[in-house]
Amino acid sequence: MPDTLQSTVDRQRQYIAGGTMSLNRAITPSKLFVRAKGAYLYDADGNEYIDYHAGFAPYLFGHGDAEVDEAVIAMIRSGASLIGAGTMPWEAEVAELLVDCVPGIEQLQLTSTGSEAVGYALRLARAHTGRDVVVVMQGGYNGCFDYVSYNLMDPRSFVEDHREGDEYPLSVTTAGVPKVIDQTVRAIEFNDLAAAEKVLAKGDVAAIILEPILQNIGIVKPQPGYLEGLRALCDKYGTVLIFDEVKTGFRHALGGYQALSGVTPDLCTFGKAVANGYPMGVIGGRREIMSLCAHPDPKKRVSVAGTYNGHPVNVAAALACLTRLKTREAEVYGGLERLGARLEAGLKSIFEKRNYPTTIVRQGSAFAVYFMDHAPVNWRDVVMNNDMERDIAYRRALIDNGVFHFPVVTKQGSISLAHTDADIDRTIEITEKVVNSLA
Ligand SMILES: Cc1ncc(COP(=O)(O)O)c(C=O)c1O
Repeated sequence: MPDTLQSTVDRQRQYIAGGTMSLNRAITPSKLFVRAKGAYLYDADGNEYIDYHAGFAPYLFGHGDAEVDEAVIAMIRSGASLIGAGTMPWEAEVAELLVDCVPGIEQLQLTSTGSEAVGYALRLARAHTGRDVVVVMQGGYNGCFDYVSYNLMDPRSFVEDHREGDEYPLSVTTAGVPKVIDQTVRAIEFNDLAAAEKVLAKGDVAAIILEPILQNIGIVKPQPGYLEGLRALCDKYGTVLIFDEVKTGFRHALGGYQALSGVTPDLCTFGKAVANGYPMGVIGGRREIMSLCAHPDPKKRVSVAGTYNGHPVNVAAALACLTRLKTREAEVYGGLERLGARLEAGLKSIFEKRNYPTTIVRQGSAFAVYFMDHAPVNWRDVVMNNDMERDIAYRRALIDNGVFHFPVVTKQGSISLAHTDADIDRTIEITEKVVNSLA
């Protein structure tokens, strides 16, 4: 390990609990990144990487996008630090834009993270229904809080904990969650309407929360009719349907995946691409539910509070992103689709020559290479069929050759508008070399 990296890793281990900020960023082998610009990452040893990790997906316009950064700098220079009292003019502006863009948002609140938005969505759903239980998807990720810390994204825990015959196998993903929370969470498989009906029919489910495409285990798409089926079940049993669009939102369409699928949830959450890397979350939905934030009866009122909610810096970034997405919608999403299709075609031509199965799944600018012979329908399918050893070896070899994919199995790749045709072509060349060397 180079000296600079070794000494930084040593200091990190001494002073940072767990050795890295946000523990899901830990990677093997460790890397010391010092700069990111456009479609590129740079490490302390001067190595350059074409980046498809995109910081877990926010960078739709690439790192350090000039338009977004200029809007942020202008906001700071205008003297608009966080005032934290009353309201500010740009709050209405960003709220109106979001309502205008996203079919399922009639009213909203801003947060600093996607996790907080999810926390409020669940609280609102419980207040609205007077019920406690929430349903999550196996293999989904909905942030860091207790109620959604049951999704099974670690293949080992899935195999160890998922006993045949368990009605709703639950595997908590962190220590420190009170046992009592177990009783308020059910986990079901994605794309399984019968399982959803079975759990909803008990009549105690406040909300079902899902990423409309499972994008924390690659790209697992809803089967035709699945989201429509969930919508109908939620209507039938009085359950709030929540789309967690923190990853899908704005990456696939200005109106989120809900606009593409034509299925409108009761509540939805956004983050990441809404502000191209600046920390913002959005919780929005039907007025009837959102307005519980201001219910005249304090016992029915849902508290939403955060010192940094709607921070002017983040709002400036979001305004710049949303305005650009709205005014140049066709150019942005057409451009992302074109780059995505170019990469997909290149990868397909490389992998079809191999004697092991691979499947590339893509939605616009987001893609995943699975080492299995079909596009997965749920997490169980991935765990049982994806060749995890080949998956991790592929990622690590790409990094060694200057293409950065997050080195954890099944993690989604994200293309940004800062990627050029030349970047995509170079990625394909490098991938071919890597795949040949791994054969
Ligand atoms: C679908 C989804 N929901 C929620 C979150 C949590 O967002 P944040 O990390 O901003 O708290 C994430 C983060 O990766 C996510 O992918």
